[in-house]
Amino acid sequence: MEIIVLPTPEESSRIAARLVAKQIRHKPHSVLGLATGSTPLMLYRELIRMHREEGLDFSRVTTFNLDEYVGLSPEHSTSYHRYMQENLFDHINVPEKNTHIPDGLTEDIPIFCEGYEAQIQASGGIDLQVLGIGTDGHVGFNEPTSSLASRTRIKTLTRQTLSDNARFFAGDVEQPHHVLTMGIGTIMESRQVVLLAFGSGKAEAVAASVEGPISSMMPASALQFHPRTHVIIDEPAANKLAKADYYRWVYGNKPDWQQH
Ligand code: GLP
Repeated sequence: MEIIVLPTPEESSRIAARLVAKQIRHKPHSVLGLATGSTPLMLYRELIRMHREEGLDFSRVTTFNLDEYVGLSPEHSTSYHRYMQENLFDHINVPEKNTHIPDGLTEDIPIFCEGYEAQIQASGGIDLQVLGIGTDGHVGFNEPTSSLASRTRIKTLTRQTLSDNARFFAGDVEQPHHVLTMGIGTIMESRQVVLLAFGSGKAEAVAASVEGPISSMMPASALQFHPRTHVIIDEPAANKLAKADYYRWVYGNKPDWQQH
């Protein structure tokens, strides 16, 4: 794992955007795995800026999103379909047919999930997966005790995640308890992972995932087995890491050829 601690979410998101841009420039038909939530918003804003000002071209890119709420239509104000349209897809030149998000309204969940996995395989597999992390260590919506070998499937959210995400469900919009999510096994097959975490609320989950034992109780800890994961976090999210000084030193002394 490469752990990059930067002063602000803005700087962290800029480095993450550079990694994504580098991937796309190196391989224009890259397959990206995308995340939702508040964390990747600045990364998406930076990618939109790079598209507009630097000609970053998404015309051959394919995307697969991690997850979606069961029961929400793509047009629903809090669906992840809507989130992706509004925060990224409407502002870049990725062809709609190349974007994939689990269908929260599918009538046959097991068949849909199997098909989603097959589509990822058929596309050549995910080159770079963007991840956030839940306060309970979930990635995608793989809650604690998710099998570390799991594939795309339905999951039930924990009370902690429901309460963390309640802020997105204003007024009388009912918050679904069930979701479709790529599995940990699916995520682990991506060739490169960029995990972002900001704020002190994520510090415990970050420390446990990066430095703690590998356990399904802390799903992101599975990434310790991933050969190419960049964990990019701001200072508050780093404040429970035992080796934070070491990570800062390593990053500060990276040779030029290794810079992101
Ligand atoms: C959500 C998403 C995750 C996200 C995480 C953190 O529930 N399913 O993909 O990484 O929880 O959310 P946030 O970035 O808003 O803190």
